[in-house]
Amino acid sequence: MDVNPGTPRTDDGPLRLARPVHRLSPDSADLHHDAVIMREAGPVVPVELPGGVPVWAVTRDAVARQVLRAPDVFSSDRRHWRALHGGEIPADWPLLGLAAPQGRSLVNVDNPDHSYLRGPLATVFTEKRVRGLQPLIEDVTDRLLDRMAAAAHATADNTVDFRQQVAWPLPMTVISHLLGVPECDHSMLREHFDVLFDDTQDPKSAMADLIAYLHRHLQRMRRAPGTDLTSDLLRLSDGKRLTDDELVAALQVLIVAGHETTVHLLVNAVRTLTTHRDQLDLLLSGDVAWSRAVEEVLRWDPPTANFLLRFATRPATLAGADLQAGDPVMISYIAMGRDPERYGPAAGEFDVRNVRGHTSFGHGAHVCLGAPLARLEGRIVLERLFGRWPALTVASAPDRFPTVLMNSYSGLTVRLAPADDRPCDIPAGV
Ligand code: HEM
Repeated sequence: MDVNPGTPRTDDGPLRLARPVHRLSPDSADLHHDAVIMREAGPVVPVELPGGVPVWAVTRDAVARQVLRAPDVFSSDRRHWRALHGGEIPADWPLLGLAAPQGRSLVNVDNPDHSYLRGPLATVFTEKRVRGLQPLIEDVTDRLLDRMAAAAHATADNTVDFRQQVAWPLPMTVISHLLGVPECDHSMLREHFDVLFDDTQDPKSAMADLIAYLHRHLQRMRRAPGTDLTSDLLRLSDGKRLTDDELVAALQVLIVAGHETTVHLLVNAVRTLTTHRDQLDLLLSGDVAWSRAVEEVLRWDPPTANFLLRFATRPATLAGADLQAGDPVMISYIAMGRDPERYGPAAGEFDVRNVRGHTSFGHGAHVCLGAPLARLEGRIVLERLFGRWPALTVASAPDRFPTVLMNSYSGLTVRLAPADDRPCDIPAGV
């Protein structure tokens, strides 16, 4: 494969995986700054991940789409990763579980296995089902906003952590309902989520507990099916029915892929809009639809900064870089979102009037299955949050999560204004 073969190389001779143009660090103050360095170095450049693991980073939208459309050359299957099998990747490398997940699920296989595993999920996780979740999402959002108001009013300066109060619990609650998890298990599931998505804790035992829970959940839904996604998966015709292990892996992927990403979307959107008041005014006045803000945030400040990994199945020249069979390829969504070759000279400007599309939900066979749900949650939360507190501000600069993969913050303290919104009652927890 040769994508855009005319792309110039660096002055230092051919790019080589072993000679990184940049080292990504979890302590980076700003992943957008790293993205600029990688993008300016070229469309496909060698970079080093924390732990000294070298990968090719794709920084251009068009090149990434080529990669994601060619699973025969750029596989999702870790069996093709030369360094892994050569013993060069330490077994305790913290990013191993994300770079090369073990086991078999739709995220780490190619066709025909991918269609076999994705087909049933796509059949039941439809846009129609997502539209049906709208009243639930509105209701949960309103209750969380009430609770957030109460928490803010209990402080001297009317501040509260939006991430903790709304962005974190909302997607978790919605996924739990989607899967038919009974209310009485929500808090137990929430505890698992807390560990699973906390980079400072070892997720192994929480993951094992979650898998055991999902097996029990399947048995329960088999005995007493409902109208939820799990029951519909179980109901599918024989030709499409998966084994219990495959079903549990599918539910696990929905949880892992769908929760954290949506948390970051909500946090990044609030942060972006409060620092672009002119844009927020266009939304508040009704001149521009809230859904456009969601799209523009996904491009300009995407939740997934750098996505691990695809593996070259054979030698390939990609936008001027010579890849060997077994080389790992990282898709840098954060670099692609402001790619001037796709978005022009104003690629770096956040502009809800000029929504230019994005690839932040991926592309090709593995394109995000949950995009309609993430979009719906984003629109509902922004509309209701700013509808209620149009003058809301971010009270202090948020701390970045120490990760090179997600574009995320550990909290987002906001000040609710005006301050006359004191609820007469503190509502029950959601
Ligand atoms: C803003 C939020 C989200 C973002 C930015 C996002 C991003 C992505 C990306 C980039 C991929 C492609 C991975 C690849 O190329 O291998 C993906 C796949 C996937 N996403 Fe999302 N996602 C989001 C929300 C969700 C939600 C809410 C769900 C479900 C509840 C979900 C479920 C999935 C699944 C199941 C896949 C795997 C598809 C496959 O491998 O065939 N995502 N997502």
